[in-house]
Amino acid sequence: MNENGAPRELISETRIRERVDELAAQISADYADKAPLVLVGVLKGAFIFLADLSRRLTIPRLIEFIAVSSYDKGSVQSGGVRLVLDVRGNIEGMHALIVEDIVDTGNTLNYLIDMLASHRPASIRTCTLLHKAARAKVEVPLDYVGFSIPDEWVVGYGLDYAEQNRTLPYIGIVHPDDHKR
Ligand code: PRP
Repeated sequence: MNENGAPRELISETRIRERVDELAAQISADYADKAPLVLVGVLKGAFIFLADLSRRLTIPRLIEFIAVSSYDKGSVQSGGVRLVLDVRGNIEGMHALIVEDIVDTGNTLNYLIDMLASHRPASIRTCTLLHKAARAKVEVPLDYVGFSIPDEWVVGYGLDYAEQNRTLPYIGIVHPDDHKR
């Protein structure tokens, strides 16, 4: 935390906006002849990134959400992920882009790619705002990455620590001990 008790800034609001603009331009170009693109946001963390990214695309797009819950998250052995909300629409034959806020171990995205394939889309690509490469446990294809970040606990722009700081406008760093004080 900084001297005001707010999480220490890692990525500014301005830098996030610039990078989301870049990603949106790249995705719009890549999918220009594949529209409509189905954006599949992963709740809860991706809700702000998805809202901003989707509004900056210049191609026709549809929005879906999925949600998962991790078994024993943080355990070295556990890669267990459970689906708690599936896509509502029929995405068969459409191009799908999974939109995540962060890829950490890769377990969630690894599971979601397989799960989404059962809906028989024309293609599946992935987009994550943040990638914590140091924590990777499984290799997952990352097609669009906003920022690579160090192994710190980050909050803001949709990400939380114990449900706190999701609506912070920037990406900040917290330490679990901060919350005990
Ligand atoms: C976060 C994030 C990803 C997942 C990444 O979700 O949104 O879905 O963890 O971690 P992994 O690569 O190690 O699987 P979280 O469980 O914090 O839930 P939330 O999005 O609802 O906050």
